[in-house]
Amino acid sequence: MTASDRTSASEGVNRPPSQAPLLQLDGMVKHFPFRDSLGRKRGAVRAVDGVSLSVPQGSVLAIVGESGCGKSTLGRLALRLIEPDGGMLRFDGEDVLALGPSALRAKRREMQLIFQDPFASLDPRMTVEAAITEPLILHRLHRGRERARVAELLERVGLRPELARRWPHEFSGGQRQRIAIARALASEPRLIIGDEPVSALDVSVQAQVVNLLGDLIRDLGLTFVLISHDLGVVRQIADRVDVMYLGRIVEEAPAEQIFRAPRHPYTRALLAAVPGQGGALKLLEGDIPSPVSPPSGCRFRTRCPYAQDLCAEQEPELVGDAVRSAEGEARSRESAGQTAHIAACHFQDSLPAATPIREAAADARLAHLQSFFSTNREPIA
Ligand SMILES: Nc1ncnc2c1ncn2[C@@H]1O[C@H](COP(=O)(O)OP(=O)(O)OP(=O)(O)O)[C@@H](O)[C@H]1O
Ligand code: SF4
Ligand SMILES: [Mg+2]
Repeated sequence: MTASDRTSASEGVNRPPSQAPLLQLDGMVKHFPFRDSLGRKRGAVRAVDGVSLSVPQGSVLAIVGESGCGKSTLGRLALRLIEPDGGMLRFDGEDVLALGPSALRAKRREMQLIFQDPFASLDPRMTVEAAITEPLILHRLHRGRERARVAELLERVGLRPELARRWPHEFSGGQRQRIAIARALASEPRLIIGDEPVSALDVSVQAQVVNLLGDLIRDLGLTFVLISHDLGVVRQIADRVDVMYLGRIVEEAPAEQIFRAPRHPYTRALLAAVPGQGGALKLLEGDIPSPVSPPSGCRFRTRCPYAQDLCAEQEPELVGDAVRSAEGEARSRESAGQTAHIAACHFQDSLPAATPIREAAADARLAHLQSFFSTNREPIA
């Protein structure tokens, strides 16, 4: 699959992003303490354990990984919906963690979250019009013409304006997600984080909502962080992909490279884990270790077929990158920017070559990956 294939699948989402990061996380940490029945602290779930990433203005970054690896926690940290235990968070160069409550409220206008479940994100006691008007009033936008603005937003997400008087329960899952998107757009954000934005929807509806997201990202110049277990969706709209494992990023690369030439044994195992592809499936049979006490050294070592003594002793850094410039020079992560391909594995340069993914097998692999990442979620509509 080529970049142009991905672009056409999403009607041209992939625009050349500007290099300036809109969102930057550096060494982000979130540990959730847990207590016994007497209220004594007994340990902590290391949900996010030192994550750095950077999302250039106008680009789409996907975050993928198994259930419980910390994706949603990372998304909430990125919007400062929860406070980190450590690390740095910048939005358009500004230190978001230094903002006081009122400055943070104002900043939130530019950063929105779309949830998986549009039922949970829409108040059943509010009409569609009231739900979309609320952020307009809060941020004093389009004063005096709120009703007209609601109509514009509904049309923007493919719904008839006359539906504004209705209640959330009168809509299908896909329509509700469109309403939730219209509400998120009402504050005219620059950044949207979509936490599994289509995974609760019926497959046919998923495609329509993914296309809508692709159009909005392109037309409004949005920066988008897509949290998803659905590699098919990721392949359609992401420019770059971060693969998470137990609270850390283990590989980051342009979306096309993740699918074509994965470097980390975890990513490779995911991509190879398709019936008929040899023993690779076995790799992922082991349970993901507890995030309360992750393995020493490399966190993937308990499931990795290439693990050696060093892997238990030393945590591998997120490095690598044999990405070459047009002149053929090897470049660092910084200078490679959006083309950088990095992985956290001591032996990434000496591992056997990854099995090339045949185009014919690619869709089967993606379908399998989809089921691998999926939890048992029932479609809403
Ligand atoms: N408020 C909380 N209190 C305690 N533990 C939490 C809390 N929120 C998340 N966790 C734990 O942190 C870890 C990461 O959770 P998170 O929801 O971020 O994972 P995820 O990758 O989004 O998973 P999924 O794909 O199932 O949505 C899990 O072990 C989870 O149980
Ligand atoms: S560092 Fe070792 S255990 Fe970790 S992925 Fe690489 S080879 Fe496997
Ligand atoms: Mg989640």
